[in-house]
Amino acid sequence: MDLYYLIYTSVPVRPMNEPELQDLLRVAREANSRFDVTGLLISLPESFIQLIEGPRANIEQLYLNIMADKRHYGVTTLREGLIDKRFFPDWAMAFKSHDTRQCYQKALSLHDDKVLQLFDIIETS
Ligand SMILES: Cc1cc2nc3c(=O)[nH]c(=O)nc-3n(C[C@H](O)[C@H](O)[C@H](O)COP(=O)(O)O)c2cc1C
Repeated sequence: MDLYYLIYTSVPVRPMNEPELQDLLRVAREANSRFDVTGLLISLPESFIQLIEGPRANIEQLYLNIMADKRHYGVTTLREGLIDKRFFPDWAMAFKSHDTRQCYQKALSLHDDKVLQLFDIIETS
């Protein structure tokens, strides 16, 4: 089985409130468990950053669904590729909501080779 990961960023059509986020996460976690998908979603006031990982065909299908989702736009792939092991094996979809100025600035100045560093920062903060 090809284990694949993909990190993208997107812009919410409007900042999501807590019930909307919880609803999104509930549906995503249920589906991800069924399709052997794990990952991390970061919600900032003006952007999402998400890592999804799992069997390649499942990730490609999920990404098509995500790109078509009307709750956000400007879906841009930051990094993708084959992996030997998962970054977040225990999480059907881990979630971080960071709106501190510091973290926000880090996300905005994100470059491709900095993406994984961002996940390190978020995980240890
Ligand atoms: C920022 C964002 C992240 C999402 N992450 C996931 C996810 O990890 N897993 C998932 O199944 N759906 C996720 N969704 C929802 C999908 O876009 C889509 O609604 C879901 O796959 C259901 O698609 P369907 O109604 O065509 O079956 C996400 C949506 C958004 C806006």
